[in-house]
Amino acid sequence: MNEVKDKTSLGLKKEFPEAEDFLPINGTDYVEFIVGNAKQVAHFYKTAFGFQDFAYAGLETGMKDSASYALKQDKIVLIFTSPMSPDGWMNEHLNKHGDGVKYVAFWVDDATKSWEETTKRGAKSFMKPEKIEDENGYIVKSGIHTYGDTVHVFIERKNYKGHFLPGFVKHQTEYKPEPVGLKYIDHMVGNVGWNEMNTWVDFYKNVMGFAQLISFDDKDISTKYTALMSKVMTNGNGRVKFPINEPAEGVKKSQIEEYIDFYQGAGVQHLAVATDDIVETVSKMKARGVEFLKVPETYYETVLDRVGEIDEDLKPLAELGILIDRDDEGYLLQLFTKPLTDRPTLFFEIIQRKGAKSFGKGNFKALFEAIEREQELRGTL
Ligand code: FE2
Repeated sequence: MNEVKDKTSLGLKKEFPEAEDFLPINGTDYVEFIVGNAKQVAHFYKTAFGFQDFAYAGLETGMKDSASYALKQDKIVLIFTSPMSPDGWMNEHLNKHGDGVKYVAFWVDDATKSWEETTKRGAKSFMKPEKIEDENGYIVKSGIHTYGDTVHVFIERKNYKGHFLPGFVKHQTEYKPEPVGLKYIDHMVGNVGWNEMNTWVDFYKNVMGFAQLISFDDKDISTKYTALMSKVMTNGNGRVKFPINEPAEGVKKSQIEEYIDFYQGAGVQHLAVATDDIVETVSKMKARGVEFLKVPETYYETVLDRVGEIDEDLKPLAELGILIDRDDEGYLLQLFTKPLTDRPTLFFEIIQRKGAKSFGKGNFKALFEAIEREQELRGTL
């Protein structure tokens, strides 16, 4: 873990000087999901998304109440955890939310200071700083609550030389599907309830020291039926970006509201993961059974009028249904999976940035119409 991260350890370059310095974050450490059957979910993310075996904790390692599989692809580490018995908070979490993201962990230099600075500013503590050690040294871990039942964990690993985290052993099986070219988490989106967006924008600003990157209102992001409002928060070095969505009033139920209904509250809506070659990545994922949202072919008749010249041939992009958008600094290519769980909640976005630093606002209308067609099929529009 350390060796991979060190390659990109540039220190805390101040990309967003308005962000405060009291919570320096090196990057995302891992994202942990609570799921019904971690063993099978891990198999899915290996097979379909090209993640690799990385670490494991379970009965064989002395963990009695849960089993966790950590998978890795380039800088992205995902953990899938399942409870081993009917009692306890994990089962309540599963019962309420279905499979979903519980922990978004940050890699920090000082987990004690991170906890102190955030709780001092009003964060609700999830866990006080705790030293966790094994024969390879120690980590310090602390945590605070954020929207819904989601938790931000702070991981300080400068005194740890082990493979991943204390409690985990290195895990390698003989089944090793090839990676698909996913590099790092570009952004992670939270859906919050009606009129709650500004509360959580203020939380990231005041409690976490983030800055607001860009904003658009429901006039920008609406279709005939559904609407949402969104603001994007970023940490100081720009490595952690959290768009926050809330539903807006439309003629019919918005996808954000659908999420809130099925997730039973606020939670992580999508993880956007970056690739250097979206055509190759999406081709591989499709061949492995990942389903993506599809915009009508007419999208490609006019898209270049809107975004101008691009380096890529339009044909393969159109065949795969990849979306294009442009801002002042360049353009981006993106595509969204259908929900990855039976409840229409969590999905992934695959994104390739060619200079653009925005999030694909120009695609929202075409995209929302595609989502509405899916909602129609689910009877939730
Ligand atoms: Fe996104």
